[in-house]
Amino acid sequence: MDHFTSAHDAVVHLRPDVPLAVNRPHRVRAATRWFLDAFEGDILYAVKANPSPWVLEALWREGVRHFDVASVNECKLVRDMFPTATLAFMHPVKNRTAIARAYHEFGCRIFALDTLEELRKIQEETGGATDLTLMVRLGVSNADASLKLESKFGTHGEEAVLLLRHARAATEEDLGVCFHVGSQCMSPNAWRDALYETSKLIIQAGVTVDVVDVGGGFPAVYPNMAPPPMQSYVDEIHRLFDAMPVTMNCKLWSEPGRALVAEATSIVVKIDLRKGNRLYINDGSYGTLFDATHIKWQFPVRLIRSNTLDQGATCADELLVSKLADFSFFGPTCDSLDCAEGPFRLPEDAAEGDWIEIGMLGAYGVTMKTGFNGYGEVIEVQSSDTPFTSMFPSDQPAGQVVPLYAKG
Ligand SMILES: Cc1ncc(COP(=O)(O)O)c(C=O)c1O
Repeated sequence: MDHFTSAHDAVVHLRPDVPLAVNRPHRVRAATRWFLDAFEGDILYAVKANPSPWVLEALWREGVRHFDVASVNECKLVRDMFPTATLAFMHPVKNRTAIARAYHEFGCRIFALDTLEELRKIQEETGGATDLTLMVRLGVSNADASLKLESKFGTHGEEAVLLLRHARAATEEDLGVCFHVGSQCMSPNAWRDALYETSKLIIQAGVTVDVVDVGGGFPAVYPNMAPPPMQSYVDEIHRLFDAMPVTMNCKLWSEPGRALVAEATSIVVKIDLRKGNRLYINDGSYGTLFDATHIKWQFPVRLIRSNTLDQGATCADELLVSKLADFSFFGPTCDSLDCAEGPFRLPEDAAEGDWIEIGMLGAYGVTMKTGFNGYGEVIEVQSSDTPFTSMFPSDQPAGQVVPLYAKG
């Protein structure tokens, strides 16, 4: 990856016609460092959030050794890069080939499940292995999450009790419980409620539990979504975990995805046409802007003007002279769904040929892109600048922070 000092600097040099992913490995490392220091347990990075090799490399260099994988291809990706990594197949529904390959070919010993049928599949495809850590996925409330995940996975009540007992009997190694409070969870109370529910089910089942995995869901800062400090999340988890009916040596795990990578990538798009306050840009719902289009999240933006590029105008200079207006974005494909309402606040004279840096797209951004309509090309570069916003301490002087045009 070519290296630049900022998204603006990359545009000056590349003048890209296709979307540009501006990656900041130093911010993945800062977030990881924070989690490893603050969280009193193992961090299993949720690979799906961003499986790019530069992300995995940054995590590994900082000390992450456990990876939450959701498919056999993610098993292979991590195993090829890190032969000694611990793989945890946390998807509760896996096809038989994936289970067999994960166990026999990639050395995965940790499997999630939320049904007796999945338990049987795991037993059959691993040849009756007794060296498994079985993680029972419980259904918990997603009331505090901006992106709810509760309708698809997780077992409840009597079914959960039965599954816990069967899973306990099926392994000589660890039995664990796991859940997901939903992504971009805006309150630590979600973990309080989930851990109360988990304790209740453990007591009803009367089983010994060796691992409590509090899942992902840790937030990043987006416009109109400013979560409380990350420390309040881990404090609440530690407080509740200490009071749980589990073994003395019970392990605590978490599976952050978004929180570790969201701030680490901006996408720079180009305006191909302006129709009133509709900007037709070269990326959209089938590219890296899935969350902006499908779940209508706002993202921080700043304009990079084509007509002042050579004069080296900075975003900070422009802020002083620009009147702002609200815009919506339309992606490059023929599909009408390919539209992000925003609103995105930019200088009112944004024009065809200008670029827009869209921040906070390190999680579920580039990884979501498809080749629909022949689009999908993204140029990846590296930058040493600060992100738009952060939940974590910065390792750069405050003076380098570029002001935002818009808070949404
Ligand atoms: C099982 C599991 N763990 C962890 C994550 C990561 O969640 P987040 O990115 O919200 O931290 C997900 C996301 O869907 C998930 O399904």
